[in-house]
Amino acid sequence: MVTRRSLLGGALAATGAGLLTAGGLTPLLTAHSAPAAPAPGAGGPGGAGGPKVALPPPFTVRMPSPPVLSPVSTLGGQDTYAVTIKEVTREIIPGTQTKVLTYDGHFPGPVLRARSGRRVVIRHRNQLTMPVAVHLHGGNVSPDNDGAPMDTFAPGTSRTYTYPNQQSAAGLWFHDHAHHMESEHVYRGLSATYLLTDDTERALPLPAGQYEIPIALRDAHFDDAGQLHYVMDDVFGRTTLLANGRPTPYVEVAARKYRFRLLNSSNMRFFQLRLADGGQITQIGTDGGLLERPFTTDTVGLSPAERADVVIDFSRYPVGTKIVLENTLGPGTPEQVGKVLRFDVVRTAPDPSRIPDRLRTLPPMAKATVERTVVLSMDEDGRQEPRGFMDGRVWDAQRIDQTVTHGTSEIWTVTNTNKLAPHNFHMHLVQFRVLERNGAPVTPAEAGLKDTVRLFPGETVKLHATFDTYRGTYVYHCHLLDHSAMGMMANFRIR
Ligand code: C2O
Ligand code: CU
Ligand code: CU
Repeated sequence: MVTRRSLLGGALAATGAGLLTAGGLTPLLTAHSAPAAPAPGAGGPGGAGGPKVALPPPFTVRMPSPPVLSPVSTLGGQDTYAVTIKEVTREIIPGTQTKVLTYDGHFPGPVLRARSGRRVVIRHRNQLTMPVAVHLHGGNVSPDNDGAPMDTFAPGTSRTYTYPNQQSAAGLWFHDHAHHMESEHVYRGLSATYLLTDDTERALPLPAGQYEIPIALRDAHFDDAGQLHYVMDDVFGRTTLLANGRPTPYVEVAARKYRFRLLNSSNMRFFQLRLADGGQITQIGTDGGLLERPFTTDTVGLSPAERADVVIDFSRYPVGTKIVLENTLGPGTPEQVGKVLRFDVVRTAPDPSRIPDRLRTLPPMAKATVERTVVLSMDEDGRQEPRGFMDGRVWDAQRIDQTVTHGTSEIWTVTNTNKLAPHNFHMHLVQFRVLERNGAPVTPAEAGLKDTVRLFPGETVKLHATFDTYRGTYVYHCHLLDHSAMGMMANFRIR
């Protein structure tokens, strides 16, 4: 059995329970009075002894929009793509070339636009020196197209995945899933946005075109040479925030409504976002697509892999206004992680868009006939290589942990029994509903279709899922990828 240590080239750092976010999720209450942050790169092993690379001051770099992938063919009733998985260098910190792992050379990952009912076929060529697996997160796909952890393809080989897109519009994403390597691969750049649309969504008068912007948020730990530093469970080291691959950028907007497709592509960081002026955000969708109705809020929470589809109306701000999108959760000081990006209102623009009161009808929930419980936990005793558990066991590729009867609906009660570590829970294949959180009804942000749900220490959620599409074996896991790489994953078989 290959160990995580050997696969990651011995780059593991000692980690202790104290690093499992003991103070990690403390709200940044001292947002305007905290001591100055350590210099960027502090704590990293450093580069080749050259001058230390400094992060740019906040809001001095423009946030790019990720490029949209073009199909190589649209014949035969399907869109066919060819993607090369390769290492390149990209400018993340101005003036510095950083090595990243990419889909087709793009950092942040590109956007693939797909349509419900129209097949997407992607041929990936692996030009890395490590095996990879590509998983469409949130996708209703057959087991052999799921990019399962052991279903990898070797360096120098190719693999074709077929996505039938038999599901409603949703902001999905794809990322690496090669077991024990996924956390490092995703951290180094192997993630991309997959925007699936359908007729229902297209008929809505929501902001579109240049007024619909995907934003992938994540954190990173740069060493002194401006390279991405990776060690397992480095919760306190990854304190540089990137929005679409750039540190604390600015985004120029017109004084009108915009739709932002937010994705938290971090390995372990939870975001709690708000506009600095407390301004209103309208949330219209979540992981599995549109909500039934929009709701307004002043904050959006995103655990790793969660998505939020939001509209912000900048027409309430005079041209010239600059509004910071803040993050109110640690780890990290407010100076390091309190500011995500800044919206600069630079012009006016006509705005024919509208947010309808009714966005769609969610599929009805069939009566559940089976109930299960799942317990997430990990070692918190300070050992060198903490293990992650589902129901007390580390993942075993050969072991089936839950057997589900095809065509049924079930209720899963999922609990995080850790005292310090936050987790979340993601199931492949299905979009579920969150029925309850800690025994109480959920907030509107969790009232839609979800594939990932957060679990702060001690929390319990009750989920409803229907298994009526594919049969076969899939995984469920904590999507703090460093945790799933430690074993916090299990298999379910639908038959
Ligand atoms: Cu984002 Cu196993 O997935
Ligand atoms: Cu997934
Ligand atoms: Cu976890």
